[in-house]
Amino acid sequence: MSLLDVKDLRVEFSTPEGSVTAVNDLTFSLEAGQTLGIVGESGSGKSQTAFALMGLLAKNGTITGEALFNGQQVLNLPEQQLNAIRAEKISMIFQDPMTSLNPYMKVGEQLKEVLRLHKGMSNREAHVEAVRMLDAVKMPEAEKRMAMYPHEFSGGMRQRVMIAMALLCKPQLLIADEPTTALDVTVQAQIMTLLNELKNEFNTAIIMITHDLGVVAGICDKVLVMYAGRTMEYGSAKDVFYQPSHPYTEGLLKAIPRLDTEGEILPTIPGNPPNLLKLPQGCPFQERCHRVSDHCRQQTPELSTFANQRQRACHNDFHLSGGQ
Ligand SMILES: Nc1ncnc2c1ncn2[C@@H]1O[C@H](COP(=O)(O)OP(=O)(O)OP(=O)(O)O)[C@@H](O)[C@H]1O
Ligand SMILES: [Mg+2]
Repeated sequence: MSLLDVKDLRVEFSTPEGSVTAVNDLTFSLEAGQTLGIVGESGSGKSQTAFALMGLLAKNGTITGEALFNGQQVLNLPEQQLNAIRAEKISMIFQDPMTSLNPYMKVGEQLKEVLRLHKGMSNREAHVEAVRMLDAVKMPEAEKRMAMYPHEFSGGMRQRVMIAMALLCKPQLLIADEPTTALDVTVQAQIMTLLNELKNEFNTAIIMITHDLGVVAGICDKVLVMYAGRTMEYGSAKDVFYQPSHPYTEGLLKAIPRLDTEGEILPTIPGNPPNLLKLPQGCPFQERCHRVSDHCRQQTPELSTFANQRQRACHNDFHLSGGQ
């Protein structure tokens, strides 16, 4: 049994213009202590996948499918059961820490509250544990920082507070939704290194959500590439990086800045993701794909499994000849 087994996860929103399928039959799994990267451009359904697992979907959304966490279904649970799972077993960090921290409450109080509420600790015990966790996320002068308010921290330090808060109850799974996009490149790298270290220290599985394949390169075991709510490609990070089997992954890989191309303009994938209300017949990526054929315009490629438990949804066979 895997730590998390997601099968045919589907998220639909009803809107005045019609029904939108933001997540379309997603299937993936994650073992204890593993890191899965979910990668795709804006609007591909990454956050809605996470929100569905956490029970945080907007009111006009409906979820179908299965998500077994340690064998227990976590989709569509009542609020009370969700609260017990959130923070204690699965926790999440968001793109902008300011939206999740209370600006009027000292950081130490916010951390201690989590421990009092979920772990039944006394104020003294919670204080000791909160300082220990701030130390673990490499917060300088942790004891002193407990008495500070969120606005007194830099962006990177606030994100460290969020990571500390998310890990306080030693969750088995941490979902990080673009945790570094609001930060500058050097701080981004520090936060990624930190998450990787903490994963090893606490044996926490991580779902790392990002639009940048480069960000997940060093830290993921598996990668799921999403486009228009669907899986385009899914496999071990090594396979996906070194032998991309989908033209969309190829495009994302070419857009990663590399040291030897510094200063050059990076090739981006031409065009934009499709409007989910007006998806074309056939493959959702067809209009931007340099390997498109008539077949792609007529029939949506099914997700198929090939070598070494890899999956892809593409009619083109270019990957069989070494990605050329
Ligand atoms: N409440 C809602 N009602 C209707 N459509 C919604 C709603 N919430 C999200 N969507 C749509 O679902 C799709 C997927 O959104 P999602 O937030 O998962 O994208 P994302 O991959 O996280 O993008 P980003 O990188 O910009 O965060 C988008 O097209 C979005 O417009
Ligand atoms: Mg998002």
